[in-house]
Amino acid sequence: MGVGGKALGRIIALQKKPRVFQKVEIFDKKVRIRVNRRSGSRSTRRNYGKEMASTMARRFADRHDDSRCESARMVIAKAWVLKKHFDGFPQTSDFDLKNIELPNLKDGGEQSATFTTNFSGGYMLADHTNNPKLMTGVVVSELLLESIFLSVDPYMRPYSRRIMKEGDIMIGTQVARIVESKNPAFTVGTFVVADRGWRTHFISDGKGLQLLPSSWPESLPKSLALGTVGMPGLTAYFGLLEVCKMKPGETVLVNAAAGAVGSVVGQIAKIGGCKVVGCAGSDDKVAYLEKIGFDEVFNYKTVKSVDEALRKASPDGYDCFFDNVGGEFASVAINQMKKYGRIAVCGAISQYNDSVPQKGPYVQMPMIFKELQMEGFLVTRWNSRREEGLQALLKWVMEGKVKCHEQVTEGFENMPMAFIGMLKGENLGKAVVKV
Ligand SMILES: NC(=O)c1ccc[n+]([C@@H]2O[C@H](COP(=O)([O-])OP(=O)(O)OC[C@H]3O[C@@H](n4cnc5c(N)ncnc54)[C@H](OP(=O)(O)O)[C@@H]3O)[C@@H](O)[C@H]2O)c1
Repeated sequence: MGVGGKALGRIIALQKKPRVFQKVEIFDKKVRIRVNRRSGSRSTRRNYGKEMASTMARRFADRHDDSRCESARMVIAKAWVLKKHFDGFPQTSDFDLKNIELPNLKDGGEQSATFTTNFSGGYMLADHTNNPKLMTGVVVSELLLESIFLSVDPYMRPYSRRIMKEGDIMIGTQVARIVESKNPAFTVGTFVVADRGWRTHFISDGKGLQLLPSSWPESLPKSLALGTVGMPGLTAYFGLLEVCKMKPGETVLVNAAAGAVGSVVGQIAKIGGCKVVGCAGSDDKVAYLEKIGFDEVFNYKTVKSVDEALRKASPDGYDCFFDNVGGEFASVAINQMKKYGRIAVCGAISQYNDSVPQKGPYVQMPMIFKELQMEGFLVTRWNSRREEGLQALLKWVMEGKVKCHEQVTEGFENMPMAFIGMLKGENLGKAVVKV
């Protein structure tokens, strides 16, 4: 592949023995390497190639990063790390606050591809034919972002065990603002949703960043992109429409009803012409649910019997049950489903902190005799329909048909407290942290 332009410099002096590279040149925006096929083994050439590729990328960035010369900018990101795996209910001592110095941004000019090779993944210099190859590469352009709002969600509790190791930065999403950009595709000042964990600042190559819907009104808090007009809202939307398959005139039951997902479930069910029964863990939450239009509500912590409360709220039983909680509540509710009822198993928050798994009662008998459908789901199943869901949610919010409440904790240093508080049920609506 031709590179074109005047070579800015050569860096063959970087080579160790054996001499793998005959010529390594940096051009205006690209790098060209000529490989010596008689040097070393194929794996040596490959390993040296990888090393050389990253060295070149750094050198290239150094030469083209004006900010490095101008200001020696240094950004220190704060990040919350999982110090120790949670055992039972999370404690603040399970977290550690770390400072991380961020490097300067790489500038690859207008292109933002990785090294161009005929190998997937790039950065390899000799192919299986062992032919010398001329290869070109482009340094990826980067962005610096600052988190404005961070989400604390129940999934972080079970997923910490499944996908994290001690010392990792806590997983999670944020609404972030681009504060510096070497990539013309991303303008400074733009807000995005990112999944870069509990950190105040981060560098990105742009991959995986989700722009807020273009119709996002200026008056609407951007934090809603983590709640009603974000992942929890989408969970309610697809869980109700695609898993519960609710129909007008049916009765829908939802628990953790005053939370991020539950409050949207109830309101969408009302829009869909259903009767909605919800329960929550405090009188304030129950009052809120009445205010936003739930038909029947109760405090599951203070009623004498959940079974009786459910029967009183809908003597004929339930067509749909959107289950956010699992455990004992679900075992009771399942017996009050109507024949052919549908249960969307969204979450099992009553079990997330258990060190010893809870035991039955078991679901098979009501499942058989009522011929129920019970389906677990993850919202990511509908990633390809994300835009559709967000547009519908945004429209309902703007029309006042779906009301939103947020529990905003101020200060990045309070992230663990906000997370633990949400697991304890201290939140009304979506729990978020404002940095
Ligand atoms: N499947 C998916 O893709 C998906 C996506 C998002 C969320 N989820 C799940 O949906 C559920 C709700 O998530 P969310 O983000 O909307 O959280 P949320 O409801 O805003 O917050 C959690 C709420 O759960 C309730 N809770 C906590 N411990 C409980 C217990 N032992 N028994 C009963 N209720 C308890 C508390 O409300 P009360 O005061 O009312 O008890 C608390 O406020 C969670 O289970 C979550 O894992 C699943």
